[in-house]
Amino acid sequence: MKAVWIIGAGVAGLSAALTLARHGQESVLVSSAPSVRAQSVMAEGGINAALDTKGQGDSMEEHFRDTMEAGCDLADPNAVRALTEGAAEVVRTLARLGVAFNRTEGGALDLRYFGGQKKKRTAFAQSSTGRQVMAALIQEARRWEDRGLIRRKDHHEVVKYLTRGQNECTGCIILDKYTKSCEILSGTGLLASGGLNGLFGRTTGAVQNTGAAAAAAYLAGAACANLEMIQYHPTTAAISGKRALLSEAARGEGGRLFVLRDGIRWYYMEEKYPELKNLMPRDVVSRETEAVCRECGQDTAWLDLTGVDKEVLSERLGDLTEFCREFLHRDPGREPIPVYPGIHYFMGGLYVDAAHRTTLRGLYAAGECACQYHGANRLGGNSLLGAIFGGYTAAQTILRDIPLPEMCAAEAEKAAEDWCALCGAVAARREAVSCAAVEAELSRILNDCLGIRRQEVSLCTGAAALAELTRHVCAGQDREAGAARQYALEARLALATAMVESAWARKESRGAHFRTDFPRRDDAHYQKTTVARRHSGGTEISFEPIAEEARP
Ligand code: FUM
Repeated sequence: MKAVWIIGAGVAGLSAALTLARHGQESVLVSSAPSVRAQSVMAEGGINAALDTKGQGDSMEEHFRDTMEAGCDLADPNAVRALTEGAAEVVRTLARLGVAFNRTEGGALDLRYFGGQKKKRTAFAQSSTGRQVMAALIQEARRWEDRGLIRRKDHHEVVKYLTRGQNECTGCIILDKYTKSCEILSGTGLLASGGLNGLFGRTTGAVQNTGAAAAAAYLAGAACANLEMIQYHPTTAAISGKRALLSEAARGEGGRLFVLRDGIRWYYMEEKYPELKNLMPRDVVSRETEAVCRECGQDTAWLDLTGVDKEVLSERLGDLTEFCREFLHRDPGREPIPVYPGIHYFMGGLYVDAAHRTTLRGLYAAGECACQYHGANRLGGNSLLGAIFGGYTAAQTILRDIPLPEMCAAEAEKAAEDWCALCGAVAARREAVSCAAVEAELSRILNDCLGIRRQEVSLCTGAAALAELTRHVCAGQDREAGAARQYALEARLALATAMVESAWARKESRGAHFRTDFPRRDDAHYQKTTVARRHSGGTEISFEPIAEEARP
């Protein structure tokens, strides 16, 4: 088989490439930035596995239940079952590859509390777990790069997926960001392009994750699912026009949230949720934080780490402590840190089955750009796990699914001609468009209507504004930006519209999706997957049953 092309060189992409290489299958990692700059390095707090090194009687079954419960029964149970059963082996493999996990005095993997879990289940490397995991995977990938089984195309991005008929993907067109030249990659592909941060701008994720790779797949006919499920992390801080993450690990190690009510500290989570307190699932903590800030007329809540042991602050939370000192000019051991919820993770994405197949044969998706593990709300510590396990599973599926569609020479030639024609058509448009201005407006619209609380009026206003913006972009051209960026922008607008329409169509509240006009959960109508498909130039939303669990 030809080299499998993988869009994205973060943990999911690397995990897939390594799995393919171990089976003698070549792959090519296509990424706009090198692996060391992938968003995965930003994952801080840890990775979940029911290792039970603390003797609390933790189990895979409990990990499964916590994941399903946090996801409000919207995740694919078969995918979650495989994920939670595979978790221990993922962590052990990472340890074998040299990830510097914190250890107990007896040498066992140390575990910490994380949100939504009653047992210590999150293995960690201080508070820079993602960075350590990436370092180990990059190192491992180098061995296979030497042998020619992994190739890299850094500073490249996918601009278009090539299809045959309605439901086969036969390749893609990638663009070299430096030379602006395009190239066709034929054969099977895996999308591992991370979250849709660039659509919103102010998130804890990498803005280089523009959402264009997933949007192009959507335009090519791949269905998307649960796009309305966007996770707001309770503790983020504003920094340089972005949100910086203050890991949930801080609360796992004893950090407490409060808001000032009439000048007095109100530890609202402890009062309202006496069992899990500050470690309730993220959707709950974020909504409460927003609500109490509003109630008390404050624009910030506070993370109080002053009661946490100094050694814990410098050792287990070393990077977070450093970050607060250097960038927020506050010493967490002496004073509280101002925090507010910010966008952190996209539970929705490409609609995939438990084996990571998208709805286009020959195209797979894993990591944050895919939808199946987290339902309506993701457990902290399940993202690195989902990305590594997802990349591994997708690669195994690809190997099992061979033979897969490939392009013949005539099809490749035709695809190149079509792309030239498409670029020519954009270049012939008369009206002037500024992609940068449209991107800023797109972020504004999405942040306005897809906040922690949503409602009919703002969603309709958002959808109308996106339709107007789309008309404007499709009528004009931005000479400086070039046709590829403009095509990507049109695709991103289509995906953004699907997000807003998904949020509009789900007339209930569940997990991260809270509708002030439909504040209750409605299992009878909506315990289903929201599926968005591109249809006749518009969006078609349907609600499809969640897969039955294959075994009790
Ligand atoms: O809070 C955190 O450290 C985030 C971790 C995650 O999203 O899994």
